Amino acid sequence: MPLVAPEACEVFVSRPMPEQPFAELVARFAVALGPVERPTSADELVAGCRGARAVVAMLTDRIDAAFLEQCPRLEVVSNFAVGVNNIDLDACRARNLWVCNTPEVLTEATADLSLALILACARRLPGAEAELRAGGWNGWRPLHAIGLPYRRLGIVGLGRIGAAVARRALAFGMELRHFSPNREAGAALGIEWLPLEALLGWADVVSLHCPLTEATRHLIDGARLAQMRRGAILVNTARGPVVDEAALAEALERGQLGAAGLDVFEDEPRVHPRLLGAPNALLVPHIGSATREARTAMGQLAASAVVDVLEGRAPRHAVVRPR
Ligand code: DGY
Repeated sequence: MPLVAPEACEVFVSRPMPEQPFAELVARFAVALGPVERPTSADELVAGCRGARAVVAMLTDRIDAAFLEQCPRLEVVSNFAVGVNNIDLDACRARNLWVCNTPEVLTEATADLSLALILACARRLPGAEAELRAGGWNGWRPLHAIGLPYRRLGIVGLGRIGAAVARRALAFGMELRHFSPNREAGAALGIEWLPLEALLGWADVVSLHCPLTEATRHLIDGARLAQMRRGAILVNTARGPVVDEAALAEALERGQLGAAGLDVFEDEPRVHPRLLGAPNALLVPHIGSATREARTAMGQLAASAVVDVLEGRAPRHAVVRPR
């Protein structure tokens, strides 16, 4: 596909994305692409966006006031993600930009991974598999590899993904409660709201589905972990900084928590060394939306937001719109 150098582009795509939506951008605009093997650095992002009208940004790209100052022609930041915590929305508002994201299309994929982590933690799959591979399995026995309780699921953030997790968990016969800003969010599914502290004390499994904001940063800290039932499971497919990782590692080491299933980390791609050393932590590299269908649909939304704005139409999913 004919690409242009970053300094000559109208649209900068920060990382390789699914082929078909990328081809649609290349067919219409002068497009430059960021690095293939690693995240785009801050300098490379500026170099690509200095003269660009649009950027398809990744959740690894920091879009802040200092960046925007250097990119005066930018009209739209199209985030290849539903979460927009990598973007300073106020700075974008002040610049009168469009900011778009990719909601809905990754809901089911992310909910599937959440359930996979819940079940894998509860049934101790990583440890059981490691034991077998290491030759430590000496045959079936009644007291072997007994799982953790997981009938009571507490959902923190009953939005689109939280509700999709809830539907799956109900089909598994689990009992549910939620903590969300909207207390009525569970009404349609018959899920009762509890204050966070009560939810943590009630649940066998706590699954996090809230966005990362200043209010939710370290929402689950040492004190909140101590409120969870002894031996409970924490699952996080939302954003890493919602959990204080050092406190989590300690809670796992002390046995306060039975297990944690984590798809997201505080300082990605770095993982806290104490979590890497915790046998009761199941760690996967931010793959919640990593199905072909979801990533293609995310690419289509991200690309169509760019096409719409640059061709003078309002995009479908705007988080920030110009006045
Ligand atoms: C998102 O879209 O915010 C996800 O974290 C990417 O899978």
